[in-house]
Amino acid sequence: MKHERLCASLPVGSLGQPFEYAARMPSTNDRARELARQGAPHGTLVVADEQTAGRGRGGRKWLTPPRSAIAMSLVLRPGSVSTAETGSLAVVGALAVAEALDGLGVQAWVKWPNDVILSEGKVAGVLVEADWLGGSIEHVILGIGINVRPCSVPKADLEFPATCVEHAVGRRVDRSGLLIAVLERLDHWLSKLGSKELMQAWEDRLAYVGRHVTVYGPGVEMAGSLLGVTAKGQLRLALASGERLTVGAGGLSLRPIDTVDK
Ligand code: BTN
Repeated sequence: MKHERLCASLPVGSLGQPFEYAARMPSTNDRARELARQGAPHGTLVVADEQTAGRGRGGRKWLTPPRSAIAMSLVLRPGSVSTAETGSLAVVGALAVAEALDGLGVQAWVKWPNDVILSEGKVAGVLVEADWLGGSIEHVILGIGINVRPCSVPKADLEFPATCVEHAVGRRVDRSGLLIAVLERLDHWLSKLGSKELMQAWEDRLAYVGRHVTVYGPGVEMAGSLLGVTAKGQLRLALASGERLTVGAGGLSLRPIDTVDK
């Protein structure tokens, strides 16, 4: 990652100032939360070339070997983001990555709730973590991990096949340029939280619409045809019985029924 290039291009809109970069750290989300608890302002950006204890959704590990991926976390604060809108932040993260990949000529979709996938598999994930004080949000950490080079693709214990940006593009990709493109799209969509436009853009990117999918998580497993998302980001499913259902994301994942686990 070209640290100097990143510094020269920041901030992007309201994002990326202050900026902390490390060649190696346990987790950018953990570091961003530490900075937020010390009072870091909205837009603070933490980037690591390598994470030694990166975290994914559902307590899973997230692999970030050196010189291979993008690992970034932003501090977002209410005032800029209202408590009611924090549920859409993961959507914004996934949409921003998918749109940044457009710029590389790669077709990306969002697999509900917030995985970014290419036709070969998952390429990026989003982890949103919030600190609350009473009933209101103190700050939110929006963490994004993108597999860029082949060596960033995890090989074992996968719930869903994984891939990387370079596999799809077929050439070397500049990680700093991609990170800046993600920040540009994030800045755009963060200013539209709660809008119909955001939900429409998300639904337009939704993978597997019209396909048979399984929605699963701790103690939950259901199958149906994917209809779309509601204005609040819940999944709309048509069950085999004909019944229609909406499902909230909390800890759940989705896969098409014909996906072969690797
Ligand atoms: C997922 O799909 O499970 C979410 C993965 C999120 C990984 C990113 S990498 C940067 C940030 N720091 C972390 O420890 N996790 C997120």
